[in-house]
Amino acid sequence: MKIIRAKDYNDMSRKAANIISAQVILKPESVLGLATGSSPIGIYEQLIKWYHKGDVDFGACTTFNLDEYRGLTPDHDQSYHYFMHKNFFDAVNVPDERINLPDGAQLDAERECHRYDAAIRAAGGIDLQLLGMGLNGHIGFNEPDEYFSKGTHCVNLTESTIEANKRFFASADDVPRQAYTMGVQTIMLARRIVLVVSGENKAKTVREAFFGPVTPRVPASILQLHTDVSIVADEAALSLCTDLL
Ligand code: F6R
Repeated sequence: MKIIRAKDYNDMSRKAANIISAQVILKPESVLGLATGSSPIGIYEQLIKWYHKGDVDFGACTTFNLDEYRGLTPDHDQSYHYFMHKNFFDAVNVPDERINLPDGAQLDAERECHRYDAAIRAAGGIDLQLLGMGLNGHIGFNEPDEYFSKGTHCVNLTESTIEANKRFFASADDVPRQAYTMGVQTIMLARRIVLVVSGENKAKTVREAFFGPVTPRVPASILQLHTDVSIVADEAALSLCTDLL
């Protein structure tokens, strides 16, 4: 596991964007695994700037996002489809037909999860998976559990996630109760993983996940067993690990 130390959120974003950009320059037809949330927004902003300067070209890339709410259509302003178009896809040149997210409007969960895993396999697997990490160590929507999940599956959102997300919806009743997410095994099958983490509120989780035991109670801890993982973390996120670095 490589820990890449960044000064702050902007530095973290630039460093991670550099890794993604190098991946795409070295292999223009890369299959990229992408994430939503606040952690990768700065990366997308940086990649958009480099794209407009002509430094990186996504025209041959294929993308697969980690997750999507079940029950939201792509045009819903809280769907991850909408987030990705607004924050990245609308400004770069990934061809529409090579942008993949789980289809939240497909309510047949078994069918949708099977379709998504088959599409990842058919694309040749993921070359580089970008990840954020939740306060409890979750990756994708893989929450702390007794075991590590395998392929793409449907999860019930926890009460705390519903509570945390209700501010984005008209009321708590409108928050989707379920989501489709790549499983931990899907994530671990990516040939290369880049996880970005920023802020003091995640410092304890960083220590547990990357310097503690590998356990499904802290899903991101499994990344310790991956052979090509870079954790790009800012000083605040590493503030409880200074004795270990
Ligand atoms: C996003 C995702 C989540 C987030 C995590 C961190 O697609 O799957 O696991 O990466 O919740 O979110 P932020 O970056 O908002 O702190």
